[in-house]
Amino acid sequence: MKRHPALQPFSRDHNVGLVLARSLQTAPDNGARHEVARKLLEAWDVELKDHFSEEERLLGPLASEGMAERLRHEHRVIAEWIEAFRTTGEYGTTATVGTLLHDHIRWEERELFPAIEASATEEDLERLARETDGLEARRHDSPLAPRRGELMDRRASQVVDLAGLARAASSSGPAWGCATDDLNGTLVRWAEGEGVAAHVNDVVDVMMVGVEGRGIVVVDGRTEAMTPGALLVIPKGAERSVAAETTPFAYLNIHLKRTLQLSGAAMRPSRR
Ligand SMILES: [Fe+2]
Ligand SMILES: [Fe+2]
Repeated sequence: MKRHPALQPFSRDHNVGLVLARSLQTAPDNGARHEVARKLLEAWDVELKDHFSEEERLLGPLASEGMAERLRHEHRVIAEWIEAFRTTGEYGTTATVGTLLHDHIRWEERELFPAIEASATEEDLERLARETDGLEARRHDSPLAPRRGELMDRRASQVVDLAGLARAASSSGPAWGCATDDLNGTLVRWAEGEGVAAHVNDVVDVMMVGVEGRGIVVVDGRTEAMTPGALLVIPKGAERSVAAETTPFAYLNIHLKRTLQLSGAAMRPSRR
């Protein structure tokens, strides 16, 4: 099941946390343990501490009593281990901390978040989304996940060089995005031969603007060429597919924020 947008900023933190947990678990020798413990302390200061306290503040009241208690307990245990690294400089237990962190994140993703998604009201989730937008903004310049700010630019109040971003992107799919309370914009980039398979978006109209390179968009059987500066409005309910003819081919999709839920399924590269 796709994560509710209100919880996605926490889940993006979890991606960083799982990578860190893995390197804590697998550090092969003392030198590597020392290095990864140093990384963990840095992560604690710039992200993890904030993540823990925001989960307790925002998710605690939405969770059952038992789950809220487990959340606080596991945070406390992990925080104590991390503090011990700082005060003793003893790094022999990195694998234990890695496993605690890993298991904690897995529990949140597999049990806590689904339980909240199932029991919270729409108003709860909308309030939560406004709060986690703030969390996302604080991660904008994260040294732990430098690409995250590029992908989720929620403060695009300055001029953005879309063509430059499209040329700089090296992987396919969403290359940059911004979101306001009302609007969602995503810069999508493909290599030649890639694109989006035919699908129907029933939720909102999409305005598509060509940014870089050339591609073909088929809307309800009608073929349109997309080039930089071209604009195409795709009404909701229409079937559309996208195919890149150059590397890169990039375009900006703009729509009401509601379609966030759609992008996951529709954004996988389809080689043809
Ligand atoms: Fe947590
Ligand atoms: Fe978490």
